Amino acid sequence: MRTVKVNASTSYDIVIGEGLLDSLGEYAKNAVGIRRVCVVTDDTVDSLYAKKATDSLTASGFDCIKFVIEHGEASKSTEKLVALVEFLAENRLTRSDVIIALGGGVVGDLAGFAAAVYLRGIRFIQVPTTLLAAVDSSVGGKTAVDLVAGKNLMGAFHQPSLVLCDYTTLDTLPPETFSDGCAEVIKYGVINDRPLFDEFKKGIRANIENIIAECVIRKADIVGKDEFDNGCRQLLNLGHTVGHAIELCSRLAISHGSAVAIGMVIVTRIAVRLGLCPASELDELIAALKAEGLPTECSFSAEELAAVATADKKRSGDSISMIIPYGIGNCKPMKISVNELSTFIAKGL
Ligand code: NAD
Ligand code: GLY
Repeated sequence: MRTVKVNASTSYDIVIGEGLLDSLGEYAKNAVGIRRVCVVTDDTVDSLYAKKATDSLTASGFDCIKFVIEHGEASKSTEKLVALVEFLAENRLTRSDVIIALGGGVVGDLAGFAAAVYLRGIRFIQVPTTLLAAVDSSVGGKTAVDLVAGKNLMGAFHQPSLVLCDYTTLDTLPPETFSDGCAEVIKYGVINDRPLFDEFKKGIRANIENIIAECVIRKADIVGKDEFDNGCRQLLNLGHTVGHAIELCSRLAISHGSAVAIGMVIVTRIAVRLGLCPASELDELIAALKAEGLPTECSFSAEELAAVATADKKRSGDSISMIIPYGIGNCKPMKISVNELSTFIAKGL
């Protein structure tokens, strides 16, 4: 078992271990006291893990209600957000009560945002059940829903009170969903940690507890230094401007992790063609992503991607900040004029 501390505007533990779901009630009691809790989950995770979670909570004295969404990115919507907060209100959850997000990044982002806005903010606990949620979305307090104009355009920073990661839940993930998480794992190495990238190349599944812990140690460090995304936290957006555009151009048929994998390849290829990054580093990145079953190209044109990317929340005025790899383990932000975005992206296709 590994425990990592996040020291942001609030401090909390990320606990990673085998079979921890059976002890959710005890961990939750220590983190927030005995309260009413609303477990938010999706229909797939509901059938696999909700009973185990609610049994543990009930045994520890919690009074549980449950809100289940359909699985998939389409549920990260304003409609679901309103339905969830109405459900909390109908069930008279008070300011001292708690939401538990049991699921992947979709559940975590939606439930976290509901916790941020319901009664102007109540506490919540993240219980990630995908690799992507375990290494990235459950940590750091970014919560959001999608708008028609783009991903995550309505959201808030709201830190959880606890992250409890039972990595045995990852055993039931479809292979492509496990692969999606590998994109975010590989991202940590590419951003600023070449030795970590080399470690990942030995295989992610075989060393899962350690790999989740190493990723969240890095994320906790970044969030501690720049909780509100004004500086070094932007490095975590590597591949995301183009990635979000790919997700939207595909009408969500391409998942977040796969889109980020393709986005990382596109920005690295841009860096190679600008003479900023050796071509061998791009080859290594593509090989690492392919080894984890991830896609590395898409069929959208630069014009299509740029048209969607101009609505990205990383836009500021007439420019957009993109993270550029100068090599594996060495990324820096670069401001691109919105007018030049299409030409810029075209270099990476
Ligand atoms: P997801 O939540 O849609 O989960 C993927 C699929 O796996 C779903 O169908 C779900 O039902 C299923 N699933 C979940 N756990 C399972 C399990 N243990 N066994 C079997 N099936 C399981 O997708 P995701 O990849 O976890 O998250 C993607 C979302 O996270 C995107 O919306 C993205 O924008 C967001 N995200 C947020 C942050 C952040 O910092 N807040 C960071 C990265 C990504
Ligand atoms: N996933 C990007 C961030 O947390 O900042």
